[in-house]
Amino acid sequence: MNVVTVNVPSGSYSINIEPGRLDFLDSAVPSDATSIAIVTNPKVGALYLSRVKESLLKTGLSVFVIELPDGEIYKDWVNLNKIFDVLLSNKMDRHAVLVALGGGVIGDITGFAASVYMRGIRFIQVPTTLLAQVDSSVGGKTAVNHPLGKNMIGSFYQPESVEIDIDVLNTLDAKQISSGLSEVIKYGLILDQDFWVWCENNINKLLSLDKDALSYAIQRSCELKAYVVGKDEKESGLRAILNLGHTFGHAIESGLGYGNWLHGEAVGCGLVQASVLSSLLFNLDESIVERVKSLVKSIGCPITAPNFSLEKWIDLMLVDKKNQHGKIRFVLITKIGESLVQDVSEDMIKLAIQETTK
Ligand code: NAD
Ligand code: GLY
Repeated sequence: MNVVTVNVPSGSYSINIEPGRLDFLDSAVPSDATSIAIVTNPKVGALYLSRVKESLLKTGLSVFVIELPDGEIYKDWVNLNKIFDVLLSNKMDRHAVLVALGGGVIGDITGFAASVYMRGIRFIQVPTTLLAQVDSSVGGKTAVNHPLGKNMIGSFYQPESVEIDIDVLNTLDAKQISSGLSEVIKYGLILDQDFWVWCENNINKLLSLDKDALSYAIQRSCELKAYVVGKDEKESGLRAILNLGHTFGHAIESGLGYGNWLHGEAVGCGLVQASVLSSLLFNLDESIVERVKSLVKSIGCPITAPNFSLEKWIDLMLVDKKNQHGKIRFVLITKIGESLVQDVSEDMIKLAIQETTK
């Protein structure tokens, strides 16, 4: 088993990465737990719930199951309340433990439920998408959506541990793998040139779900995220670099309507747009933008952005959480493996959009 440790001011925890990890989840349950509730959805449940339940029953505790509908639109207040309904009707106490079995949607809503039920109970992340394994399950951001904004209601609340079974990626469709890979390559681009080059050299193995390559990519991504979160748990500075490509990506997602492009596809295209903007600002070598385009294309993400009007692009980007005083703030690269955050003028942003749209 490979273990990555996350050290944050609120405590430290392990990310345990191992093929077949689902069968050993009993070892992740704290010894003073009084009961367990698994939160999942019908799709993931049909594939993995019986194994997870069987492994958790080895603790000798009662194990309840909460099945929420599958999809981003259900990451909301109504479904959050369904979790509390089950916890309260079964008289689950402050030593109960929640287990999030699913992708980022299940992880985010379960984490938020754990952070507020009886003012906070423990929870374990069992991420089942590549995106959740390399990003959303690590670092303690939890949330539900509000009709007026995605992820607008949430908390920083770290899990007890993150339990990653790489075998579950075999049942994901290719688009979901591409979506997760965009976050993997993002880590190389912001922080680790060697990892970026490794991704360039191993992209075919990653796309064919080679176990050794996937294990390494997941472990390195988790190490890099753990490093950033350890320095800045609540995003007062450095953590913002994890959003490379996301300012453009979020604009694409909301401009096209959520669900038209997967989050990771929009982020992949956003990585291209952020590198073009960086190139305009810092006069980067042209080969850098070409390498970003080439890797984003080879993971299966779009490299040309939708052709919204310039005014629409700017409007969409003005609602980003990073912005301050009405200025649009971007994560930019100064070379492969180095990044910074700065406000950018509308003129420069528009130039980058013109170069990257159809
Ligand atoms: P998702 O949770 O919707 O999962 C994608 C689809 O894959 C769903 O239909 C799901 O049921 C299915 N699925 C999950 N595991 C599967 C498996 N092993 N086999 C087959 N199908 C499987 O989407 P996602 O991309 O995992 O997560 C996106 C969510 O994560 C968004 O809500 C986003 O806001 C959030 N997010 C949070 C953070 C954070 O730091 N908390 C970071 C990034 C994204
Ligand atoms: N996904 C960005 C973060 O966790 O900060």
